[in-house]
Amino acid sequence: MNTQDVLGMSQKYIMQTYRRLPVVWEKGAGMYLFDKERRRYLDFLGGIAVCALGHSHPNIIEAIREQADKLMHTSNLYHIEAQAICAKMLVESSFAAKVFFCNSGAEANEAAIKLARKYGNTVLNGKNEIISMRKSFHGRTLATITATGQEKFQKGFEPLPTGFVYADFNDIQSVESLITDKTCAVLTEPIQAEGGVIVPDDAYLKDLRMLCDSKNILLIFDEVQVGVGRTGKLYAYEEYSVKPDIMTLAKALGGGFPVGAMLASEKVAGVFVHGDHASTFGGNPLAMVAVKAVLETIAEECLLDNCRLLGAYLREGLERIKSRMPLIKEIRGKGLLIGVELAIEALPVIEKCLERGLIVGSAGANVLRFAPPLIINKAEANMGLEILASSLEEIK
Ligand SMILES: Cc1ncc(COP(=O)(O)O)c(C=O)c1O
Repeated sequence: MNTQDVLGMSQKYIMQTYRRLPVVWEKGAGMYLFDKERRRYLDFLGGIAVCALGHSHPNIIEAIREQADKLMHTSNLYHIEAQAICAKMLVESSFAAKVFFCNSGAEANEAAIKLARKYGNTVLNGKNEIISMRKSFHGRTLATITATGQEKFQKGFEPLPTGFVYADFNDIQSVESLITDKTCAVLTEPIQAEGGVIVPDDAYLKDLRMLCDSKNILLIFDEVQVGVGRTGKLYAYEEYSVKPDIMTLAKALGGGFPVGAMLASEKVAGVFVHGDHASTFGGNPLAMVAVKAVLETIAEECLLDNCRLLGAYLREGLERIKSRMPLIKEIRGKGLLIGVELAIEALPVIEKCLERGLIVGSAGANVLRFAPPLIINKAEANMGLEILASSLEEIK
């Protein structure tokens, strides 16, 4: 099939929930994607912060191939070796004592919401309200669109589950004013990604931790987008020297293989007992060997160091472009999650960059989002910066 054939079939047979750009990717290699016409594009979006090791990393391919050859699926009615290994790796690298595996970010957050409510209802004697943040994003299931503090994701899907209230991100007083004798948890992204790449003040997450401790409520970090190396630490909470009680991961965790995880401290994890939660595919052997390969490769290839170095390098380059282009209002981010706020809509810039062979995304209407694979080098960073600058030059 050629590109036009795929576009036609896609529009005819797939529910139109995504506004898609007219490209069909055929192959990926490292920092690059190739379309059906074999044109090469530099990927600064990495499947929306998923492909942390780049495309077609041999370690992930080998792990999945070997596992597929042996065993693909068994269900969670039995023990799964790779699942136990990955849980141990996640626990030993984090604050957590136990892990629940699922298949996506929204599912990981659903699991976190259920765990927090069960803890609140049982240990905290009937507390079950959750405070989440305005401009947050937690997924597209009914509970997670409700936790998401943006009306545009909720409209039309009423009635929504009850038990959620919304505070302003980066405003500790706003959170404090919402705490009642019904509050069981505060849920937040350490850095708001979809909301426009909003980095909080250094003290905010620490203050949040202290507030939760003083009120005896749980702190949940949604690290679906910023976890697994994106900020230059394995988990974003390490940047702020603050430990949550519950954390969710997905996206980069499987490097492109669908997987999610919900991690919790011992005291919280203990309230989930047999039958409380489940997922047919959660922690499937194929997903688990991908997770193991991702975690091992991040360590072996020193990708956290690379993320910090190249993140700073990219931001410096963007600041130079900003100094001569008033179209750029602000550059925000940590590590290799970078938001570039524009004075215009992001979409025409995304389209122009694509025409010129660079893939970038958006986070809100007027913020460009960069979430390149953590393997990016300086030459690739320079190439992306040049394409962005020339695209902005043409648009302004
Ligand atoms: C912070 C955050 N949480 C949850 C999700 C939902 O993840 P998924 O699309 O895998 O359900 C996303 C997706 O963008 C996200 O950025």
